[in-house]
Amino acid sequence: MTQKLILRALSGETLPTPPVWMMRQAGRYLPEYRATRAQAGDFLSLCYNPELAAEVTLQPIRRYGFDAAILFADILLLPQALGRKLWFETGEGPRMETTTTAAELAALRPAEAVHDTLNPVYETLRILSRELPRETTLIGFAGAPWTVATYMIAGRGTKDQGPAHALKAADRATFAALIDKITEATILYLSAQIQAGAEVVKLFDSWAGSLKGQDFTDFAVKPTARIIAALKRRHPGIPVIAFPREAGQGYVGFARATGADCVALDNSVSADWAAEHVQKDGCVQGNLAPHHMVTGGQALVDETRAIVKAFSHGPHIFNLGHGITPEADPENVKRMIDTVRGG
Ligand code: CP3
Repeated sequence: MTQKLILRALSGETLPTPPVWMMRQAGRYLPEYRATRAQAGDFLSLCYNPELAAEVTLQPIRRYGFDAAILFADILLLPQALGRKLWFETGEGPRMETTTTAAELAALRPAEAVHDTLNPVYETLRILSRELPRETTLIGFAGAPWTVATYMIAGRGTKDQGPAHALKAADRATFAALIDKITEATILYLSAQIQAGAEVVKLFDSWAGSLKGQDFTDFAVKPTARIIAALKRRHPGIPVIAFPREAGQGYVGFARATGADCVALDNSVSADWAAEHVQKDGCVQGNLAPHHMVTGGQALVDETRAIVKAFSHGPHIFNLGHGITPEADPENVKRMIDTVRGG
């Protein structure tokens, strides 16, 4: 059997046409997603309902034939499994009980206990490994420790990750211990996802761009490297995609420093620059700006072609630079895929 295209790119092969998938490809821009979410009741109930979570994961595969399906879940399910309350405010985003003191950290559930509540996620993966077309790669994921910590410390999303930086400055020992705790739990969580059928895992470090210098090394590079080393010991050959979003110069050497098989690029870096400085170390993924999925037109086609061309001399997986937004037009997604595949 010929290997799946995404796995070939991740093993370093330069393909004539890059495989393609999209962050948040199961999402509110799709009417069928909105219908299933309404059936589930709310977003978290959808995440914990294996049949419906598998259904929404499959919807964009049926509609567009993407080369990968990403597990439908959320990075905040892990801190919830560690014992912190999580809820979503309509129109505003996630809210969680904060974790900022040594006592609150000590009160978190042990890392091994995450499986108690995350079993439905593993079941979603088992369903997907049975139901996906044979050419489609199944991707599991987790948040990287720094990004998960920013939500645990602030209790919500923040523009500048201020509360997490403040705790790091005031009590570096507690902050570092929180990062360690998330790191350990993430290893167990991703390992269980792989056992349940994930063929690739991705670490989302959405707020990596706000770490600089030694902090970037200590809290973006090192925890990612530790997770990847542990996963590779337990599951030799499992490819890992790392997404240190808005890392800028930090992208250079990130794959070598962490052991990642692929670095996902946000759209703040130019494809030509990244081809020269990042792709030289291996596979890259990205990096079309999500706004093109809203605005479409010739600019979408031109920019898609320019990215494909810039990365055509090395291993590349086509993707957006961040998640597709609810305002996107499903027709533009089709146009993007047709353009990548040579239309
Ligand atoms: O890519 C995928 O489709 C896989 C599923 C997935 C979701 N969230 C579903 C989701 C993945 C990989 C994530 C990751 C995630 N979640 C990140 C890292 C990536 C990034 O976007 O930076 C973060 C920071 C979160 C936390 C989170 N979840 C926020 C801040 C929000 C609110 C913002 C929003 O878009 O509404 C969510 C909700 C969320 N996660 C939705 C989806 C489809 C929207 C929920 C809905 O249907 O209302």
